[in-house]
Amino acid sequence: MINKPKGTIDIRDYEARVWKYVEEVIDSVMEKYNYNYIRTPIFESTELFHRGIGNTTDIVTKETYDFKDRGDRNITLRPEGTAGVVRSYIENKMYGTHNLPVKVYYNGTMYRYERPQAGRYRELSQYGVEVLGSNDPMIDAEVISLAYNINKMLGLKDSIIHLNSLGDKESRDNYRQALKDYFKPHLDDLCDDCKERFSKNPLRIIDCKIDSKKDYFKDAPNILDYLNEASKGYFDKVCEYLDLLEVKYVIDPKIVRGLDYYNHTVFEIMIEDNNLALGGGGRYDNLVNELGGPKTPCVGYAVGLDRLVMTLINKKIKLPIKYNVDAFIMYVNEDEKKYAIYLSNMLRMSGFVVETEYTNRSLKSQFKRADYFKSKYLIILNSEDLNEGLITIKNNETKEEEKIMTEYLTYYFDEHIEDDKYECLEEQE
Ligand code: HAM
Repeated sequence: MINKPKGTIDIRDYEARVWKYVEEVIDSVMEKYNYNYIRTPIFESTELFHRGIGNTTDIVTKETYDFKDRGDRNITLRPEGTAGVVRSYIENKMYGTHNLPVKVYYNGTMYRYERPQAGRYRELSQYGVEVLGSNDPMIDAEVISLAYNINKMLGLKDSIIHLNSLGDKESRDNYRQALKDYFKPHLDDLCDDCKERFSKNPLRIIDCKIDSKKDYFKDAPNILDYLNEASKGYFDKVCEYLDLLEVKYVIDPKIVRGLDYYNHTVFEIMIEDNNLALGGGGRYDNLVNELGGPKTPCVGYAVGLDRLVMTLINKKIKLPIKYNVDAFIMYVNEDEKKYAIYLSNMLRMSGFVVETEYTNRSLKSQFKRADYFKSKYLIILNSEDLNEGLITIKNNETKEEEKIMTEYLTYYFDEHIEDDKYECLEEQE
């Protein structure tokens, strides 16, 4: 037997339906906020991620799937979506248009060589948004409220945003120095990763899972004390707009994020009784420029779909997922079978969800199978009836049975099964 690779998952049955439903909600909310769907490649040149996410980050140093293709190019499977969107923005000169900011969203698989555990995989899926070309705190607040509202639409009432600001460069430089001064006497006691972070990226010491439990962490400098006037003013505005949007948040100076590109607003989307982040994001005003584009302020976030779906299932959130069929067509002999083939096609094209028999089961087993699919109606074909232009329909809930003229079947269903009909898309000119 060949097993799936470590850190990957098969999504099927009920979970797959939840997954599809979540994606539908995301698409529909994004439409309301006027964010355009974007699809960028799953693999990109290695350099994009090294320059984009940062050479000292865990993602780039330990977790990327890097390989050489047959043309000897250095390729990396994307570990996240932001760098690809920024590359696309620059390459397609989206900044050349008059409609800044560009507002896009994506949904797709990402790859990180992490130690697999619940909610942490090597192939993961994220949906995310990026807004390129505005430095108004209004857009930070919109992006955060978008994440919050999608959770709300899905029935997750207890989500809460953990919010922080990393300020501008001056504020961060001052904070970095303060961290170094503070942790220097403890350097020998820090974990190996933090010893390295101390010189390369001291901010990341703050969210270290191992060291943050140590006693002297309690009094470590707080970024919010190091924000200069401009950064503080920006952060206050984000908070003011979030209040207006009725987003539930707490200010959490421990949120520093694991990718290097952030400045000013950073946030994580949490569920109140759980400390696994559903998503995270923030402002990144220098990335477009660093990757060779014009200076473009940006903000965005990504949510892990695996974690989002897992949370909905674990919390037993009721979702309007259609899991029953409208009609199950039953037959026994070849003539009836031919009619079943014709009828299932006709009803499906009219918008009904139809199941039939494919393995010559007995009529009794077909009844059981119809129950398994929670079929609302049973269509029981019978050659004699068919010759007279009649068809037997049984309501599988009330068990009432009636014979109707075959040509009235779609009218009958139109009247009795009004819900959840599929819309037929008109071809656009
Ligand atoms: P991130 O915090 O690295 O941010 O990932 C966002 C979310 O992806 C996490 O909160 C988590 O739900 C999910 N995730 C990450 N790694 C895994 C994993 N190994 N298994 C399952 N889920 C995972 C970013 O990726 C940034 N690009 C977000 C962003 C967009 N910032 C600005 N724009």
